[in-house]
Amino acid sequence: MILTYGLSLQAQDQNFDANWLFFNDKAAGAETSDFDDSQWRELDLPHDWAIEGPFDIKYNARAGGLPFHGTGWYRKHFAMPQRAEGKVVRIEFEGAMYNAHIWVNGQQVGHRPYGYIGFEFDISQYLRYDGSDNVIAVRLTPEPLSSRWYPGAGIYRHVWLKVDEPVHVAQWGTYITTPTVTDAKAVVQNETQVVNKSDQGKTVTVRQQYFDPQGREVASIEEQIVIAAQSTATAASYVNVANPQRWDLDTPHLYTATTTVLDGDQVLDRYESRFGIRSIRFDTEGFYLNERKVRFDGVCLHHDNGALGTAVYRRAIERKLQIMQDMGINAIRTSHNPPSRELLELCDEMGLLVLDEAFDVWKLAKVENGYNKFFDEWGEIDLRDMILRDRNHPSIVMWSIGNEIIEQSDTQKGWTVAKKLNDVCKTTDPTRPSTAGFNWYPAPYDNNMAQQVDITGINYKPTKYSEVRSNYPRLPIYGSETSSCTSSRGVYHLPIEKYQTHESLQVTSYDLIGPPWAYPPDVEFYYQAQNPYVMGEFIWTGFDYLGEPTPYGGKDNSTNGRWNSDWPSRSSYFGAVDLCGFPKDRFYLYQSQWTDEPMIHLLPHWDWQGMEGQNIPVYCYTNCDEAELFVNGQSMGRKVKGQNKTTLIVDFLRYEPKTFDSPYRLSWDVPYQAGSIRVVGYKDGKAVQEKEIRTAGTPAKISLSVDRAEISADGRDLAYVTVRIEDKDGNLCPNADNLVNFDVKGAGKLIAVDNGNAASTESFQAPYRKAFSGMALAILRSDKQAGRIKLKATGEGLKSTSVTVITK
Ligand code: GAL
Repeated sequence: MILTYGLSLQAQDQNFDANWLFFNDKAAGAETSDFDDSQWRELDLPHDWAIEGPFDIKYNARAGGLPFHGTGWYRKHFAMPQRAEGKVVRIEFEGAMYNAHIWVNGQQVGHRPYGYIGFEFDISQYLRYDGSDNVIAVRLTPEPLSSRWYPGAGIYRHVWLKVDEPVHVAQWGTYITTPTVTDAKAVVQNETQVVNKSDQGKTVTVRQQYFDPQGREVASIEEQIVIAAQSTATAASYVNVANPQRWDLDTPHLYTATTTVLDGDQVLDRYESRFGIRSIRFDTEGFYLNERKVRFDGVCLHHDNGALGTAVYRRAIERKLQIMQDMGINAIRTSHNPPSRELLELCDEMGLLVLDEAFDVWKLAKVENGYNKFFDEWGEIDLRDMILRDRNHPSIVMWSIGNEIIEQSDTQKGWTVAKKLNDVCKTTDPTRPSTAGFNWYPAPYDNNMAQQVDITGINYKPTKYSEVRSNYPRLPIYGSETSSCTSSRGVYHLPIEKYQTHESLQVTSYDLIGPPWAYPPDVEFYYQAQNPYVMGEFIWTGFDYLGEPTPYGGKDNSTNGRWNSDWPSRSSYFGAVDLCGFPKDRFYLYQSQWTDEPMIHLLPHWDWQGMEGQNIPVYCYTNCDEAELFVNGQSMGRKVKGQNKTTLIVDFLRYEPKTFDSPYRLSWDVPYQAGSIRVVGYKDGKAVQEKEIRTAGTPAKISLSVDRAEISADGRDLAYVTVRIEDKDGNLCPNADNLVNFDVKGAGKLIAVDNGNAASTESFQAPYRKAFSGMALAILRSDKQAGRIKLKATGEGLKSTSVTVITK
């Protein structure tokens, strides 16, 4: 069951996403009540206007080459019933990108610059309660050169209208912790903020009821509190829960607390909070969940959902996390900003650990118009609000106050800002440690900045782990950002060489190319194994994301002009999966390291016409003990994982020598002949896994497969359809780039297409897409009417096909 976590349960609470009007430009007077908006576009939120495109070099490839800056206006007309008069009416935005100004009936109610933070305003006094028209107007003004990646643009998260009695639970008003957790019992502590917006003092009863994951009430307690007029008071209580069902990675059990505020028998408010019973602990030797040492096998994720842009779709985020869990992860770093509520709810439900990160920048700028402009006024408020919103999530295990903050180099003041932010963490939630990602060495250690947070995140310095440990033995450390290896799905450049960039604007998938600060995943595996006190790693990145097309378009973080030099390269190559969510080879390298279920993977493809007789390096990623390669049925020999190593060129900034003998990859050099390569994996001497790749014939047909045959008819659920170009025998044509046309009928719409090509300017919203390395993606969204969605795919010279999704 999906709970409306953290929201009041009053019947009057409304999702406020439907029927907004949108205009994408300046509009004088658009804040006033009687402004003529009759020609504006009607749409439902969440909405990201920039993903609609078109791609253009003038928008800056670094932020995705999409029109994310300018002015966007949203207006919504609504009536309030008379019975709402005298109540408290609040509007809550879970996130609006960027620099939101809000008016109700022409009167300014407030503003909030940071696009990643949720906020609400009490708008009671500005409303009319006679059934006549009220209008809320929102102006967003995202600026150019304001982000190092694609931030999206628009009201891209949900909006709520909340109508409450003057006495009610505050926004993010409950704080539930579990100070004692044993097998026999848990102490559940609850501090609930109750607001009294009336002019009289009130004495109310606050009842807390606790329900276990099966919905059985397991404890309850009541307490009376006195709240002075126009103020807030805290109802603090605790209960004992016997034999708690712990929240853990494999058993993400979730409890619910229902808070009821009563005036005698009259219910003033009911508020539901979800939480988990678990313990976390850190020391210099590791991180412990429920007293068990757990290594972070983690990924950094940006917030966009590929071709859907940044508009929140719960299913898009769920799929993202499922794909990452298939790779073997147990942790997410929300680089470099507060994530959506949905991401955290899903991590709670799916058993993923979260490093919740607030900022990419403080006062010293990384880009011209970044958040640094707002940091002085808003920094502490935004950090506090992130923690207030998020602190009941059992998945969250650390608060990050920043990533690669420029103040690291500042010997005077950086540490004082870090101290201030750490204090905010400690006063808002002392149960979790603070952290930050440091990419400089040794400056932030020598200038007392690293020492301000509880746990030191190290970006891209695996070779320094042991030095940090011996120089700063009291700092618990982990790899907050690692590897930054780049690749394009299905693309292989031969012979293998270590280049900076390639004229195709793609990157070979032999998994050894990256910017100067990067290194192949293997190097991190090695240094983590050598230094077991390092708490694990968060790779850069799990998914490809929009923007930051490194190694193309420049590599200097502060020279914006240079970012367009390799247009149309416009999105990242860092992902272990591409922008569609299709695994690259690197996905399997991580899977071989992070999972136990026997797996085996083989690369490259086997279509090298014209290269007959020449040696092709064949790599195998597996967690089996041994693997044997067969070419057209003939054995090329058996190799032992860990013993037979693969020499990688590791010509990176901070790595000596320039090669690395990787025990994590098996490889063979094989003279090319058309046919098949097949690898068999052995565990304890038994063949347990195999993988075959055949030389494909000419493209003959399209194949479609859908991630779920049935979705809900709620107007937001999604079906992801994988498109493959195959030869007549069903082999993937690995170089095919055929154009595929889509036609959708029935109870849903085609809302986005993609193919994972980071250098394509084709629209994400077109009803067609070229294949890239033989594949493409179509994303279908259900309507609110149940029925069937039929997607037909056609292409010149290809046998067409269709797929049906049922919506219920
Ligand atoms: C890091 C930075 C990330 C991303 C990455 C690319 O320095 O923290 O946001 O830019 O480099 O390698």
